[in-house]
Amino acid sequence: MINDPTSTIAAQLAITIDGQQTTFTEGETIYQVSKRLQKDIPTLCYDDRLDAFGGCRLCVVEVEGIRNPVASCTTKANDGMVVKTAPPHIEKMRKTLLEMVASENRQIDVDPLRGLASQELATLVNKYGARGGRFAGAKSGTSNLQDANPFILRDYEQCISCYRCVRVCAEQEGDYAISIANRGFETQITTEFNNDLRDSDCTFCGQCIQTCPTGALADKKAIRAEALPEPIKKTRTVCPYCAVGCSIDLMTKGDKIVGAQPAMDGPANKGALCIKGQFTYDFIQHEDRLKKPLIKQADGTFKEVEWDEALKAAAAGFAKAKAKYGRHSIFGIASGRAPHEAAYSMQKFIRAGFGTHHIDNCSRA
Ligand code: SF4
Ligand code: SF4
Ligand code: FES
Repeated sequence: MINDPTSTIAAQLAITIDGQQTTFTEGETIYQVSKRLQKDIPTLCYDDRLDAFGGCRLCVVEVEGIRNPVASCTTKANDGMVVKTAPPHIEKMRKTLLEMVASENRQIDVDPLRGLASQELATLVNKYGARGGRFAGAKSGTSNLQDANPFILRDYEQCISCYRCVRVCAEQEGDYAISIANRGFETQITTEFNNDLRDSDCTFCGQCIQTCPTGALADKKAIRAEALPEPIKKTRTVCPYCAVGCSIDLMTKGDKIVGAQPAMDGPANKGALCIKGQFTYDFIQHEDRLKKPLIKQADGTFKEVEWDEALKAAAAGFAKAKAKYGRHSIFGIASGRAPHEAAYSMQKFIRAGFGTHHIDNCSRA
């Protein structure tokens, strides 16, 4: 018997969003399909790297046949669904939600150096004209400013309980260093036994900082540069520390590196970094950094010399070793703190200069 080939082709699923019909794949949410159509649905608890959570309710939309608005980030698209993303009553609801959040937070406008997503709340509050003050009463979140860790500011009076920090720590970093204690106005982001971060399982990867939409979690090192008058400039580069190749944006003010942020579209890291890529850039401008070459003297002390003299001394040392012990006696190790061009030059120097493959880089460790 010959099968009808058309019977094996799955029927296309279709949804209508703001009058526009489109197809979707089973399992996609209304938010994902709407985003593909470039609908501007506001979100605060959403991070597309994480499981949808449905906490902030800003992404609600109207679905024909369903009495109450539904959260588009957690509601799956269904065949034949008819959705309106921004009718007036939904926009009004969004504004009220933002006013509630804005009334509770001590500060809406925070410096962008706090973190990558830190401007999300302020941007939405401005868009909806939802500045604080409409609602008064209890406030949630107790800041943990005495946590003396050198990297993360824990300013929970800015917290809106979106739990992006807790979820990124669990789902992306696999660490579960932070969690949620209590409910309602008593809700608090905390560590095990409410210890400081240094005494928790935190690896200081910084992902919680970078996903926080209010600046409640902030990059302590970067915000030291808040007062510098120059504009922030971001330069896309690749972290040199190890062989993974995470994309980062180095942030500068004038000629000073003031911070690093992960690239959400970095093919190797998708917004993730480790403690080194995230926080350890200040050796570049450190006051102890050697700016002149030194030559070790017979008595063990170091003498500062000009580059010409240092290069001649190094060349003589290499030539002597090669003449005495052969080319394979030379072994080079390049530094993960050097730029990529220097690492390339180093391997060329060892391979072409001495004729040996004895070259490595600490980034392979
Ligand atoms: S600290 Fe930031 S990311 Fe974490 S729950 Fe509060 S607002 Fe959300
Ligand atoms: S820095 Fe990383 S490990 Fe530490 S709490 Fe934040 S996400 Fe978790
Ligand atoms: S983004 Fe959907 S509920 Fe927050």
